[in-house]
Amino acid sequence: MSGEPQRLVAALDVGSTRVAALIGEISDLSRNPRVRILGAATERTNGIRRGVVRDIEETTRAITKALKDAQVMAGVEVGTIYCGVAGEHVAARSSHGVVSVTGSEIRTSDVARVNDVASNISFGRDHELLHAIAQDFRIDQQEGITEPIGMTGSRLEAEVYLVTVLSSALQNLRKCVERAGYRVGEFVLEPLAASLAVLTPDERELGCAIVELGGGSTNVSIFHSGKIRHTASSTFAGGHVTNDLVHGLQVTQLDAERIKERFGAAYEPLVPETDIFQLPGTPGQGPRTAHRRVLAHIMHMRLQEVLELALDEISRAGYRQRLPAGIILTGGGAATPGIVELGREVFALPVRVGTPGDHLTGLVDSVESPRMAVPVGLLMYGAKQAVTTGGLQEGRRSPAVEKVLGPVKRWLQDNF
Ligand SMILES: Nc1ncnc2c1ncn2[C@@H]1O[C@H](COP(=O)(O)OP(=O)(O)OP(=O)(O)O)[C@@H](O)[C@H]1O
Ligand SMILES: [Mg+2]
Repeated sequence: MSGEPQRLVAALDVGSTRVAALIGEISDLSRNPRVRILGAATERTNGIRRGVVRDIEETTRAITKALKDAQVMAGVEVGTIYCGVAGEHVAARSSHGVVSVTGSEIRTSDVARVNDVASNISFGRDHELLHAIAQDFRIDQQEGITEPIGMTGSRLEAEVYLVTVLSSALQNLRKCVERAGYRVGEFVLEPLAASLAVLTPDERELGCAIVELGGGSTNVSIFHSGKIRHTASSTFAGGHVTNDLVHGLQVTQLDAERIKERFGAAYEPLVPETDIFQLPGTPGQGPRTAHRRVLAHIMHMRLQEVLELALDEISRAGYRQRLPAGIILTGGGAATPGIVELGREVFALPVRVGTPGDHLTGLVDSVESPRMAVPVGLLMYGAKQAVTTGGLQEGRRSPAVEKVLGPVKRWLQDNF
């Protein structure tokens, strides 16, 4: 294995059901860089629940295994990884900042300063800032400005979307990554990452929502006028569907997962009444079969509830009538056949499954699943950061450099 070339980027998505590790190479240095997938690996784990580490040893083991497998596949070694963050311990809100413009026109430094002013609020002792995403600017009295650099004015105001996260949760996740022998380059909000992997620029501009159906959590995030506007996480997710199958079909948790992935369906009317599948039997039970319709019925009922809760969240955020580009489903649950039909019925909006693929080359088939939206998005986020800051930084930056790069980096996040 060679050392880490400049253009390598690595991502780690530590989910409630599995750890996914991806390694890519940035194959062009444009604003929307293409990434060549070199290695991909997943490892089942239950060390993390909804983004919170509950077993450090087990999480470290799974991270070590997934990254090792991805590196063997890629034939390269990585040291720094972009790591996803999501869950109920993530909070987000808008904040307002005002500065006076120092020169004759607005410069990058003015934008960085106004973002810093808007971000400089108290999050409480136990939370820290993950992202500060500039949303809209106002120059003097003119509203709705998205790109203020180069414009003339004396008073610059910014609306910034601040994403904060419980510090202890981040620290524990970082501890697992470091124990596995890697360094966290940056923690990234998972819905933001997913949006980079699956949304088209038009969808992001017109208005759409990503509903991520994970194993331990369902994340709803809303994009409008090019920016993320709302994000929320609920614990009502794939695990509930699995539990229903455990009780409904009298099978173990592991078998319920397998049955769900192999024979599952989210929309009952799509399943022929005659379809039958084999249930794992115990020595006492003997061979058993079940109607696929029964399985589909259980899954349909529960997934409908999950999607209805997502719709409630969209309504509460005030976006129900403002999503002409509809709903994009990602996460493992989005691989269930019939989920689009169910989604259209619940949301009464256009619905599609968000599968990564654009801007990718290399081993694309290993990431062409809605379950890989977050890890692919993390790679793309890393690639964008590497391009905008001029190459991947290996090793720690000195605090002085960090101080200069801090505000600029935050301003750069405006691009996401
Ligand atoms: N082909 C499939 N059909 C149906 N369900 C599936 C399929 N593949 C995965 N799932 C379900 O998706 C869920 C896992 O999704 P995902 O890998 O996105 O979650 P995670 O990242 O581990 O968890 P979280 O993001 O909630 O912490 C599980 O409930 C699993 O049963
Ligand atoms: Mg996940």
